[in-house]
Amino acid sequence: MNYSKVIAIDGPSGSGKSTIAKMVAAKLGSIYIDTGAMFRGIGLHLNEKNISVGEIEQISRELDHMKFEYGRSDDDLITIDGRNLTSDIRQHHVSDIASRYSKIPLIREYLKNFQQELGEKKSCVMEGRDIGTVIFPNSYCKIFLTATDEVRAHRRQKQLAEKGESVSIEQLLKDIKQRDERDSQRELAPLIKASDATEILTDHYTIDEVIEKILEIEQSLQARVS
Ligand code: DC
Repeated sequence: MNYSKVIAIDGPSGSGKSTIAKMVAAKLGSIYIDTGAMFRGIGLHLNEKNISVGEIEQISRELDHMKFEYGRSDDDLITIDGRNLTSDIRQHHVSDIASRYSKIPLIREYLKNFQQELGEKKSCVMEGRDIGTVIFPNSYCKIFLTATDEVRAHRRQKQLAEKGESVSIEQLLKDIKQRDERDSQRELAPLIKASDATEILTDHYTIDEVIEKILEIEQSLQARVS
């Protein structure tokens, strides 16, 4: 089998994916790719242009014409038509926008091509919802990170507070449940664990412990495919 060198890290929001994927990439000297940021950027862009989820022709036209750029630094991740959206996409309400637009096949197809091109160029750690199932199903190393709803809500609250946004745990729990349901029930590329992914429940581990586990898994899988 021809394995892809991409390390695929999937899981719901608040499972620790972003922090962990970024640090695993740094340890391995690979590139970190945040696909959620891409869905957030496109969702926000369309929403601000008042193009709704049902307006497929307008979405198609916009995808054909817009200039979508994925950068490499934390403050320059998503730029659309010359506008840097990196900070705006982290606002709490954009999570819901991204989740709603992410079920649209045209957008998924657009980003699938974009992500596959990125992953084929260099070795990378790519995180999202469907990396191990749809984008790189032949990835040699697939990790599925989870955490219980309460733990995820508290993590989200802390992340948002660091960016100056205050949201109650009750509201976050409600939003997390709604978003999980939408992301895992959608027809196309739903959030599910790939059958050959290793699941890690992160509730009782520190970030460093999870990273260590992933690096151990990666090493043993690397030995198998090289
Ligand atoms: O990881 P995140 O919270 O930034 O993702 C925002 C939304 O984007 C998420 O609710 C679903 C969607 N998404 C997706 O459908 N597929 C991905 N690979 C990444 C994100």
